[in-house]
Amino acid sequence: MIELAPSILSADFARLGEQVNRAAEGGGTIIHVDVMDGHFVPNITLGPQLVKSLRKVTQLPLDCHLMIENLDTYIPDFAEAGADWISVHFEACRHLDRTLNLIKHHGCQVGVVINPATPVDVLSEVFDIVDYVLVMSVNPGFGAQPFIPNSLHKLSKVKDLRERKNLNYRIEVDGGVALDTVTKVVRAGAEILVAGNAVFSHGDPKINAENLLKAALEATLLKV
Ligand code: DX5
Ligand code: ZN
Repeated sequence: MIELAPSILSADFARLGEQVNRAAEGGGTIIHVDVMDGHFVPNITLGPQLVKSLRKVTQLPLDCHLMIENLDTYIPDFAEAGADWISVHFEACRHLDRTLNLIKHHGCQVGVVINPATPVDVLSEVFDIVDYVLVMSVNPGFGAQPFIPNSLHKLSKVKDLRERKNLNYRIEVDGGVALDTVTKVVRAGAEILVAGNAVFSHGDPKINAENLLKAALEATLLKV
């Protein structure tokens, strides 16, 4: 099943509730929340307080993508603020197994993320712990960057490994997902499509979400 996760990074924060709900009306079913600390990535965004506010304006799952250091310190705060899903970067974790289990302990869906330059194989020992694997298709830190085509074979690999190991994790892609790339990512195996710029940067988030989902569904139908 394909789902669209609008990323609020490109939304107008002064009208966040309205924009999130508009994207949901267009078929967005997961709200992707990009948390950046200015250390792990060269940008600063938001913290648990904003997650708490978002929790009041939508019933949809809040997918918190943590691009921060000192993860174990902050995971409880995000869980308490209302995060439903929490993902952490392989590259930011010294003790990945411990951090993933901490997310689970707080009752959230557990996600692991890899940067474009990180091979899929580094996740071999944690595939059975996670609920979703997020393949970054841009270098994390900013919205509206061009899609990195090398991500496609990584998505396929994550999908093949799931079949081969008989596992259940879902496959998410994040970065540069738009009308011109959505067919490729879906055919490569992505099931949860994060999109910021393509949903929020122009026009109506509802129409943009509808168009993206339509293209994604067509890609599954035409798949041979
Ligand atoms: C980038 C973030 C993405 C970002 C994607 O570090 O993780 O979620 O919002 O933005 P677009 O869809 O604009 O590439
Ligand atoms: Zn993200």
